[in-house]
Formats: sequence, C-alpha cells, structure tokens
Amino acid sequence: MTLWGGRFAGSMSDVTRRFTGDESDRRLLRVDVEGSIAHVAMLGRTGIIAAEEASTLAAGLEKILAEVEVFEFIDGDEDVHTAVERRLGELVGEVAGKLHTGRSRNDQVALDLRLYLREAAGQRITQLRAWVETLLRLAEGTADAVVPTYTHLQQAQVTSFGNHLLAYAWMSVRDIGRFSDCRHRLDQSPLGSAASAGSTLPLDRDQVSEALGMSGPVPNTLDAVGSRDFVAEYVFCCSQTMVHLSRLAEELVIWASQEFGWLQPGDPVSTGSSALPHKRNPDIAELVRGRAGAVIGDTTAILALQKGLPLSYNRDLQEDKRLVFHADDTLGGSLEAIQALLDDSDFTFPPPRPETAALPLAERLVTRGVPFREAHHLVGQLIRELEGDGRSLAEASVEDLAAVDDRFEGDDLTVLELRPSPIDDQLAAIRSMLGD
Ligand code: ARG
Repeated sequence: MTLWGGRFAGSMSDVTRRFTGDESDRRLLRVDVEGSIAHVAMLGRTGIIAAEEASTLAAGLEKILAEVEVFEFIDGDEDVHTAVERRLGELVGEVAGKLHTGRSRNDQVALDLRLYLREAAGQRITQLRAWVETLLRLAEGTADAVVPTYTHLQQAQVTSFGNHLLAYAWMSVRDIGRFSDCRHRLDQSPLGSAASAGSTLPLDRDQVSEALGMSGPVPNTLDAVGSRDFVAEYVFCCSQTMVHLSRLAEELVIWASQEFGWLQPGDPVSTGSSALPHKRNPDIAELVRGRAGAVIGDTTAILALQKGLPLSYNRDLQEDKRLVFHADDTLGGSLEAIQALLDDSDFTFPPPRPETAALPLAERLVTRGVPFREAHHLVGQLIRELEGDGRSLAEASVEDLAAVDDRFEGDDLTVLELRPSPIDDQLAAIRSMLGD
C-alpha cells in the first residue's frame, strides 16, 4: 500500500516499488507509533479532530504498540509509516485516514529518527560506562605491573599497565560526553512542520513535543524536515568511539603475539585455526579493528548524502537510516565483544628494557644544573659505552657513571629501578566524573 495515488491514473511499476521502498526503517516501528500517539492526542485536544475520533485512533495505536514484536509487514508497505496507517485502518476502519492530519512523512520520519537515536544514545552511554568500569577494574588489578610506554613502537619510558589502560578509559569518558551532547541536540520535535512549511491547521507543536518528553519543537520547519546533521553527529560519535576501540584492538592483537606475550585470551573469547592446530587467535580484536573502517565509511557517506541537497526534504535522506543503524549496531556489538575479551583474558608482563630509565638518569644531572641537552648527551654516551661491552644500562656501576662525568652521584643508580606510576588520582577522577 502507498499513502498517495489520487493524482495518478495508472499504478506504480514493480521496479519503482522495489527501488523506492524501504525496509531498513522497520525498526522505527515502536517510536513511529509513539510519535503518532502524541500527535493524535494533540489533534483531539486542539479540536482539529473530534475527541472520540482521537480516542479511537489512540486505542488502535496502543494495540499496534502491543503487537510491535509480532507486527506483520506486508510486501506492498512502502515504508514503516505506511505499514502503521494500513494496520490502523484494519483495526479502526476509515477514521484511520485522520491520523495523518497536519502531518507529512517528512516531519514524521525526522521525528522517528530523533526518538530512536535518543534511546540508542542512552544505550551506548550505558554500555560505555560499563566498559570504562571494566578498564578501571583491570587498571586497579594491574597497577603494580610495570610496562614500557612506546613511541614509534620503540620502548620509550616506563609506566604501570594500569596507566596505559586509563588512557583508553579517558577516551571513553569523552566518547560518553559526545553521545550525551549529541542526545541533547537531537532532542527536539520536528512535528508540525508537515511537508516543509507547516500546516494551516492550528497544530500545537509544544504540546506534542512535551508529550514526547522533548525539549521543544525544531523552530524552523524546513530545517526540521531537511536537516540530518543530528544523524551525522551520531554517526561521528560512533565512528570516533570505534576508532578508539580499534586502537586498543590493534594493541591487543600485538600483545597477544608470541613476541610480546602480554595477553592470553581465554577460551571463551579465542578462536582457532582450521589449518594450524596450535593457533589461538584474537579474532574479536581483529574484527573490531576491521569494522571500524566501515563505520568511518558511514560517516563519509552521511556527510556526502547531505552535501548537494537543496532544502528541504529530498528522498535521498531515506538512505540515512541504513548508515546510522549500521554504525550504531557495529559499535554496540564491538563494545560487548571487546569487553568480554578483556574480562576473559590474562595478562603477563615481561620487564621493560633497562634503557627506559635513561631519561630519569639524565634528569638527575638536570637537578644539579646541567643543561638538559648536555645531560642527554652524557647518558647517551654512557649507554653507548655499556653497549660496547655488551652490557645494559641496568648493569652500570658507580664507576661507569663517574667515568662519563663527575657530576653523576652514587645514588643516581637508584633511578634505574623501574617503578609503576601511581594511578589512584585518575581512578578517583574518572569515578567522580561518572558519578560513581
Ligand atoms: N521513507 C521516507 C524516508 O525515510 C519517509 C519520508 C517519505 N517522504 C516522501 N515525501 N516521500 O525519508
């Protein structure tokens, strides 16, 4: 069924029906009906339709709401809005034709998507909070484990493994903030904009927005039906979060290698090889990394979708749903899986190279007034001389130091002990930001 036809003598071809119809919007069913319930209540209260008509429509819509899980779409339904109006007709008869009073699918779909993403943002925030909690717990549990930091993938300085994990926790805290800002901005109702410039009927836009718990109507009707920056912003939130997960995923893959040996994924989160009996692969991490690419693609696609569109609504916009659903589903699944991977893995940490303590040694000289550039050179010279004898920095003696420069002191060697960096302040700061 279509919601139009009076203007046409003939009927639409199968090719056109197949090409223009959309099934990706079926998951909007519940929010579509909720939007309609708020709309008919307003139509009744303002007297645009009779009070009994409004309550008949509301009762029919409530029935559809109750059957959301088992709702039967039929082949001819052009989209979810059409399916609901068809079903409403089956339930309440001709009065269903009044549902669309003062409304267009243009403002309806813009509303549906905002309602859907408002909920989805809440779900992603809940998941991200649990994810941050996992990182914090693991950071606490490994706070004494000393690991090298890497720059250029070369061992650089030492830190605690917990501190390394907290870098990811902070990224996720910002991701939560981004989803929350995005949710705030999309929380406005487009209804009352109709096809593009509103309606001659005395619609009460504030009432509908209030009934839906939104902050107010979108003030400009062309903007309301024609803009999708809220979708692009949501997709960006997903892709930035995926990129953060992907960076960690890349590290997990490296850590799980035999060369690193930091990460031992447990059986529930490992995959095997059909060819090589000894393999235990970190596929979850690899797929998170791989899927991040497709979500970046969604961000490009949603921006490209809008860039050449004249105001206001254009059918191109129908394609936004596929993109945002893909991005959101991918993120939801990735968060669940990567969290399981960390929950079910063990960690072991080989000691960092002793040379990762080179900077603290140079800084001892700095505290005695030696210019940093000179201190840097002297420690470099010490390392070179030790290397010449096949020794590491850990094997340096007081005499070795004295031979390089007499401003070194005997207890300078104590800085060569590799100590973890404390993380308590960060743990407390993150917990207080999350309101725990
Ligand atoms: N399925 C359409 C979409 O998602 C609904 C709006 C259709 N509007 C129209 N004028 N054909 O954008």
